[in-house]
Amino acid sequence: MFGWSRKSLGIDIGSSNTTVVVDKRREILFEPTYVAYGTRASGARQALEFGATAKAMNGKTPPSIVVIRPLRQGAIANFDCASDLIKHLVHRTNTASFAPQRRFDVVASVPESATNVEKRAIRQSLLAAGAGRVTLVRKPIVAAIGAGLNVHQPVGSLVVDIGGGTCEISIISLTDLIVSRSLRIGGETMDEEISAAIKKQHGILIGEGTAEELKDRVGGAVLDTASGGSVGVKGRNAVTGMPVEVIVPIEDIVRPIMVVLDSIAMAISDVIEQAPPDIMSDVLENGVMLTGGVACMKGICEALSARLGLPVNVADEPNHVIARGLSSVLRSKRLYKHITVNAE
Ligand SMILES: Nc1ncnc2c1ncn2[C@@H]1O[C@H](COP(=O)(O)OP(=O)(O)OP(=O)(O)O)[C@@H](O)[C@H]1O
Ligand SMILES: [Mg+2]
Repeated sequence: MFGWSRKSLGIDIGSSNTTVVVDKRREILFEPTYVAYGTRASGARQALEFGATAKAMNGKTPPSIVVIRPLRQGAIANFDCASDLIKHLVHRTNTASFAPQRRFDVVASVPESATNVEKRAIRQSLLAAGAGRVTLVRKPIVAAIGAGLNVHQPVGSLVVDIGGGTCEISIISLTDLIVSRSLRIGGETMDEEISAAIKKQHGILIGEGTAEELKDRVGGAVLDTASGGSVGVKGRNAVTGMPVEVIVPIEDIVRPIMVVLDSIAMAISDVIEQAPPDIMSDVLENGVMLTGGVACMKGICEALSARLGLPVNVADEPNHVIARGLSSVLRSKRLYKHITVNAE
């Protein structure tokens, strides 16, 4: 049950980014899901940096510092680290109007793919971070609300959220899921595919950050035009271990992205096929609404639309859709009471 008398926070712990929304004030914190730990003289670990600062340190740390990503593919992989990050973010919301030392309630969004064990891990990490009461809500419906779709009407809306580690495809009507499918692939799968392709074709090893930058900067820019050209990529020679820069055809960056988009398009088609005929006509008319960080990629609408034969639209500020959805849920408690999930 929602507990609304105390201060409430909306929290989405994503594979790549974590969002915290503070009720009423509409303050939003959006930080990469990374924590950097140092080792004390006693041997104990101590959290040093969080979010963007920790992400910038990833892959560049001396042996005394380790950067940990507490989530993988939408599920908590490191419980203590997830709690440390939440504790830190909640502490940052500590102003005159919100004192987290007084207990607070949390509404947290969870992917449909989460198992009971994974849901319990999210709940427990929030409790360990100091939450008094935790309510889990269904992420695809929160995303649809945040994308501005009228989820309460008897109209089918097809929402596709592509994050770092998950892709959730859902058809929603009357504030409930008609059909849905969760894939454990996303923007980070594209990064991994790009790294593997560059290693295979050019024999150089690149870090996570370089692969992500290539995807965001180069891959997206040419997805819709399929133009030629090439780009300089810096990395380490896989044989000699020496730093090198090689000229990589843009095609070698676009192709791995397309492999992931093909899987996503196939899953979207599957979901559409399972929908009842009347819903199908709504979907044909309104098309697909894209949310999540990968929806920021230039040309993704055209690429998916060509594969699906349907109109594809991107929500406003797609990486802040969950934050807007959580804000709405916090504001209209009663309206959204039934989108909660049980962790048992
Ligand atoms: N302009 C861009 N082009 C391509 N990809 C982008 C762009 N901006 C962000 N991304 C990618 O979006 C992903 C992060 O999206 P988002 O913040 O929605 O994920 P998340 O909610 O943390 O993950 P998940 O929901 O899968 O657990 C990253 O892989 C990031 O590289
Ligand atoms: Mg997400």
